Amino acid sequence: MSVDLTTRYLGLTLGCPIVAAASPLTATVENAQRLEEAGAGAIVLPSLFEEQIEGEALDMFDAPAGLLDAPPFGSATLCSELDDYNTGPDFYLRKVESIKRSVSIPVIASLNGAATGDWVRFAALMQGAGADAIEVNIFVVPVSPHVSGHDVEQRYLNVVRAVRKQITIPLAIKIGPFFSALPHFAQGVFEAGADGLVAFNRYLAPDIDLEHLSVAPSIHLSTRSELAQTLRWIGILRDQTDRSLAALTGIHEAEDVLKALAVGADVVMTCSALLQGGIGRLTVMRNGVRDWLEMHGYDSVDQFRGCISRRASGEADAFVRGNYTKAVASYLQPPT
Ligand SMILES: Cc1cc2nc3c(=O)[nH]c(=O)nc-3n(C[C@H](O)[C@H](O)[C@H](O)COP(=O)(O)O)c2cc1C
Repeated sequence: MSVDLTTRYLGLTLGCPIVAAASPLTATVENAQRLEEAGAGAIVLPSLFEEQIEGEALDMFDAPAGLLDAPPFGSATLCSELDDYNTGPDFYLRKVESIKRSVSIPVIASLNGAATGDWVRFAALMQGAGADAIEVNIFVVPVSPHVSGHDVEQRYLNVVRAVRKQITIPLAIKIGPFFSALPHFAQGVFEAGADGLVAFNRYLAPDIDLEHLSVAPSIHLSTRSELAQTLRWIGILRDQTDRSLAALTGIHEAEDVLKALAVGADVVMTCSALLQGGIGRLTVMRNGVRDWLEMHGYDSVDQFRGCISRRASGEADAFVRGNYTKAVASYLQPPT
């Protein structure tokens, strides 16, 4: 008997718990179809950025009177590099429509912003274009000593509330790992209207070009060792919420998917593995998960999910300081 991989995420039914994360890979109809054939449970489209949308909206305010009747976000191009990345605001909506028409798996549109503004209205347009859900990647880098952690969290929550007001479809919030009290913050995100949390985004920090003594953008793909942080926090959050949890960063192999499911993730998302190994990697992961569950006597992914969340593991301390002390001690033991 084949293992049932059916999964619920954000109230949607997915045929498999592996989701293609936001990246250029999910930007075309052809790749969306290939990802569906490879067994993806859903796809997240690349993000449209606050800066792109606000740029176009500002242009609209400067336009001659007649042009103001044109559909919003439909004209000028600012942020041309970003527009090359995700086709820009107007084409983005057409992309959502065409990808939705060509696949039957859920299509999640993505926004990326740092503060409330007019750009949140775009979530409603994405819903109108047929998106099954919206994922908002919120990325704030506080540089002022006058801005506290509380201020930063409130800024995130204001964005969640503002986007929530725009849409009736499910909303997922994608965050990074750098919060002093993540469970409290996650609860705030849910209370503000999110149906799920994507943990974690992986921040790309700038590099320094020594030759030109300048700041250089840098991009490195993730490695499997980065998964540990995600596992800890999904394991801790799982026992405290019924909302959806997506595990992200460092998922490269079937074993990584299984570990994330074991600590309680509803789905996993993967990006670097697919950029490195191609879309076929997703099938390898999916088959690996199915075979492992079958070999270990599970009928479904639901039956396996959460078996090693913090509470279920019976080793609650291992998710907090206990892991640290044990790990340090084990390293100091002389080889036998
Ligand atoms: C080339 C590239 C483009 C990406 N574009 C987006 C994006 O548009 N929106 C977004 O939320 N995340 C984006 N990400 C982040 C990924 O979705 C993911 O959060 C991150 O790579 C960690 O997952 P991984 O370990 O599977 O790579 C991008 C990552 C890469 C490498």
